[in-house]
Amino acid sequence: YEPDNLESISKQYALDGMELVHDAKIAFEEMAKTAKKENLNIIAMSTYRDYNYQVKIYKQYVRADGEEKADTYSGRPGHSEHQTGLAVDVYNGKVNYTKFENTKEFEWMQEHASEYGFILRFPKGKEKETGYTYESWHYRYVGKDIAKYIEEHDISFEEYYATKIKDW
Ligand code: DAL
Ligand code: ZN
Repeated sequence: YEPDNLESISKQYALDGMELVHDAKIAFEEMAKTAKKENLNIIAMSTYRDYNYQVKIYKQYVRADGEEKADTYSGRPGHSEHQTGLAVDVYNGKVNYTKFENTKEFEWMQEHASEYGFILRFPKGKEKETGYTYESWHYRYVGKDIAKYIEEHDISFEEYYATKIKDW
């Protein structure tokens, strides 16, 4: 799968070469711009990843940690939502992304991400539902209505999606 409407994120809010699909890109820039007014830096550091790139990094993870462990934190090639162009990993430009949870920027995202249509995709306490360990830095664009619904109901994307499968 390859999205046909990928667009580069402004370098004000992203590392070089970061792309999301049109709607997600517009929403992300708006979000980062608003945060910047409060002196907070929301910087996209990994966005669209094509199949072959995911092959490469998944292999590295398996080499380092073994397959079982790698599967708890990395999508297999063809299974990462980074391949949709809707997912973005962020950091604040100062501390490593794995520590994003300890930043003011994370606090701001907790409060405002849904207003721009983004959800924290792999929340703490939802590991069983999502299949992945908690990632404070990984957000997915789902649009404002769904983001607010997911937030209000305190559910994961999987739980939201399950409500849409009628004959389950
Ligand atoms: N780190 C997330 C699960 C991914 O690889 O898509
Ligand atoms: Zn990610």
